[in-house]
Amino acid sequence: MLRRLEGIVPFEQKVWLSSPTMHGDELRYITEAYETNWMSTVGENINEVERLICEKVGCKHAVALSSGTAALHLAVKLAGVKPGDKVLCSDMTFDATVNPVVYEGGVPVFVDTERDTWNMDPVALERAFESHPEAKAVVVAHLYGVSGKIDEIVAVAKAHGAVVVEDAAESLGATYKGKQTGTFGDINCISFNGNKIITGSSGGMLLTDKKEAADKVRKWSTQAREAAPWYQHEELGYNYRMSNVIAGVVRGQIPYLEEHIAQKKAIYERYKEGLKNLPVSMNPYDSENSEPNFWLSCLLIDENAMCRQVRGERDVLYVSEPGKSCPHEILDALAAINAEGRPIWKPMHMQPIYRSNSFVTRNGDGRARTNAYIEGETLDVGMDIFQRGVCLPSDNKMTPEQQEAIIEVIKRCF
Ligand SMILES: Cc1ncc(COP(=O)(O)O)c(C=O)c1O
Repeated sequence: MLRRLEGIVPFEQKVWLSSPTMHGDELRYITEAYETNWMSTVGENINEVERLICEKVGCKHAVALSSGTAALHLAVKLAGVKPGDKVLCSDMTFDATVNPVVYEGGVPVFVDTERDTWNMDPVALERAFESHPEAKAVVVAHLYGVSGKIDEIVAVAKAHGAVVVEDAAESLGATYKGKQTGTFGDINCISFNGNKIITGSSGGMLLTDKKEAADKVRKWSTQAREAAPWYQHEELGYNYRMSNVIAGVVRGQIPYLEEHIAQKKAIYERYKEGLKNLPVSMNPYDSENSEPNFWLSCLLIDENAMCRQVRGERDVLYVSEPGKSCPHEILDALAAINAEGRPIWKPMHMQPIYRSNSFVTRNGDGRARTNAYIEGETLDVGMDIFQRGVCLPSDNKMTPEQQEAIIEVIKRCF
């Protein structure tokens, strides 16, 4: 490996996968909160971020919360998920998409991924409803800032009377058929986690067009206090409201959303051009119908260009081979020059915590073929992308020169 990287000088400062980028206004809004003593979960910054996000995304109500996960939790609760209820969920996603289902006692059923956008497969969703017609809700994520086939997914869910929760945590600003992600579900969630396209350092929001839903979530998120002179509680509450300080950061970031998207798009295009002669492809999107926010750029190694790679639950082994490579060889090479890549999000149906949950592919029961993973034969789509894909350094502060060096390093892995 080191011999292959000869002549490439490691970066003095690490190039991150995706790190926060501040612009100055954030500090002004935080300082205002401090100087006016609105160091609380009420204040002008909160009101403003809720207004600005509604304006940007095109929804009627936004409730600022402590995290995207909190938003998803209250979304699942709002969807009426009760203990034992089945909920059909994206499989290749971050676990925060599905954990809130379990917080409410629901049982996630994982729906396989399609190859066109790396998101929930509407065909597999239909199959999942065949085997789980009683499913109460669908929780669907847009991976890496690329919209899934969300109109088809919503149509399937509606045909089966299920509530749609859209997890747009990674896709703020991305559109599908001209409409912003985070507006397709009955209840929608976004995140301002530090690694997202814009950030509050943390934070999230629940988006809805229904006033009663927004009011309910606002109440639940502030310990479900009733309108009484004393602390009166008639239902379970949570301490999930966004802080006015965090909201100050988000408020300062919102005007830079489009700039960040343009930077991330340029990064994606440079990778696409720079890697075009290698046996790899970029994470795909439907260029006719969607415009991603390009949050993370990823590559997928052609099947016949994979060197041998075996993953256990926590360890990995691979064997270098001329003309071939694998995700962990690339990740090791990136680490050697002080750049951060990451494996594709490991599908939920492969996670030990969810191993006993159902998993449905477009061919039916996805659990029937699990041994194929070990034998390296036919894989389900999510497992296959996990096996061959890599998230590349996608930080919007990465210079074109740094990216060129990264591209050169990837070339040398083959
Ligand atoms: C797809 C997805 N859903 C949900 C979340 C949870 O958001 P948060 O970290 O704000 O709780 C994240 C990211 O963290 C995510 O990537």
